[in-house]
Amino acid sequence: MTLIGVLISGRGTNLQALIDAQNRQELRGKIVVVISNKSKALGIERARKAGIPVEIITKKMYPVRSDFDKQLVKILKQARVDLIVLAGFMRILTQYFINEFHSKIINVHPSLLPAFKGVRSQWQAIEHGVKVSGCSTHFVTDNMDDGPIILQKAMPVLPDDTGQTLAERLLPEEHRLLVKSVNLFCEGKLSIEGKRVIIKE
Ligand code: GAR
Repeated sequence: MTLIGVLISGRGTNLQALIDAQNRQELRGKIVVVISNKSKALGIERARKAGIPVEIITKKMYPVRSDFDKQLVKILKQARVDLIVLAGFMRILTQYFINEFHSKIINVHPSLLPAFKGVRSQWQAIEHGVKVSGCSTHFVTDNMDDGPIILQKAMPVLPDDTGQTLAERLLPEEHRLLVKSVNLFCEGKLSIEGKRVIIKE
């Protein structure tokens, strides 16, 4: 059984999608710990409701980045996780952290990477006037929102879309893509060759 640690910073709807899949017995792994770097993140309550252990590690508690990441690693290792999912985790991880869990960290991002990295990607897409946007899952490397892409879902941008309406339409697609990607990982169907992810079907 693949043990999963989920890192969050906010409302946690992607975490909820994983919890819902787990409750429907459709998740091929098990969420064993949720870590939030924000003490008021809505996702904390979602994890608690599901009976999943939650840890809160804030910048205030560990002002030095390397100490913060060491604590993260400690908790994730204690929980014996095989996979880490960044579900709206809005903090850059150190090289040390990435090395500790090399090829075992999946992120979900609301754009067709490598376009519109960083924050408010849906708003960036509107500003740039793109006609097609979407969402991506990828393995995490030391560059933000970079790394081998696992799955993508494209979606047309409508003439009167705003960042907000695009974000709302993308969100359920993100949820599906994330659950699917996590399941592919848990089933051992993902391998990385350079920048490419090969999916064994
Ligand atoms: C999601 O849209 C996720 O793709 C995005 O943050 C949101 C979190 O929502 N992540 C990034 O932009 C990562 N660079 P959630 O807390 O409801 O899952």
